[in-house]
Amino acid sequence: MTRASVAGATGYTGREVVRELCRQGISAVAHVRPDSPRLDRWREEFAQVGAMVDTTPWESGPMEGALGRLRPDLVFALLGTTRARVRQASQTEGRAESYETVDYGLTRLLLDATVAATPQGRFIYLSSLGVREGSRNPYLAVRARLESELRQSGVSYVVARPGFITGPDREESRPAERVASAGGRGPRARSRSPRVSPST
Ligand SMILES: NC(=O)c1ccc[n+]([C@@H]2O[C@H](COP(=O)([O-])OP(=O)(O)OC[C@H]3O[C@@H](n4cnc5c(N)ncnc54)[C@H](OP(=O)(O)O)[C@@H]3O)[C@@H](O)[C@H]2O)c1
Repeated sequence: MTRASVAGATGYTGREVVRELCRQGISAVAHVRPDSPRLDRWREEFAQVGAMVDTTPWESGPMEGALGRLRPDLVFALLGTTRARVRQASQTEGRAESYETVDYGLTRLLLDATVAATPQGRFIYLSSLGVREGSRNPYLAVRARLESELRQSGVSYVVARPGFITGPDREESRPAERVASAGGRGPRARSRSPRVSPST
């Protein structure tokens, strides 16, 4: 049976990916950060769709160990922060978060753990429409760097570059994704099919 591990499983995209994997009969493990204030709720929700929950901390050794035990065929990297969350983390929790530490840093940690622990697995990275080398937009710049490092990592991969992913249940305005979409398809572009680059 195909096995998948989903980082960013609690996000708008991740939740749907976990559901879809389960619908397709793929054994799915949803990663939830261990300090999530909604951990119990996530356990319940993911159990209902038939997924397991993994609460490995975002640290290299433990993440490598977890992937080594799970040996997933597919590793989904679907995480990222927003400007609103950066502000909130700094103001209410005193934590310094950024696109650099979350979107790049945690995804890179996951990529390194994948290469070390399950090099036969395929890394599926949710990047963004509008990504290009030399971009001065910090949201796009970290994705360009990660894409480049992913290409050089030697692991099999898929890069999806969606525009604005949304639906009737979308509660946030997501300005960074709207800007990226505008750069690619015009200011009112709301969604578009993922563009998928060939895997190595
Ligand atoms: N939505 C779009 O239109 C769109 C378009 C193109 C690209 N993207 C990119 O695709 C990715 C997923 O998008 P989305 O809309 O599904 O995002 P989302 O709903 O905001 O979910 C973000 C995920 O990242 C995790 N995360 C955020 N900060 C974290 C931290 N400090 N430590 C650990 N985990 C953290 C969240 O976990 P918690 O729930 O625990 O916070 C959540 O699972 C992002 O990188 C986004 O920029 C999105």
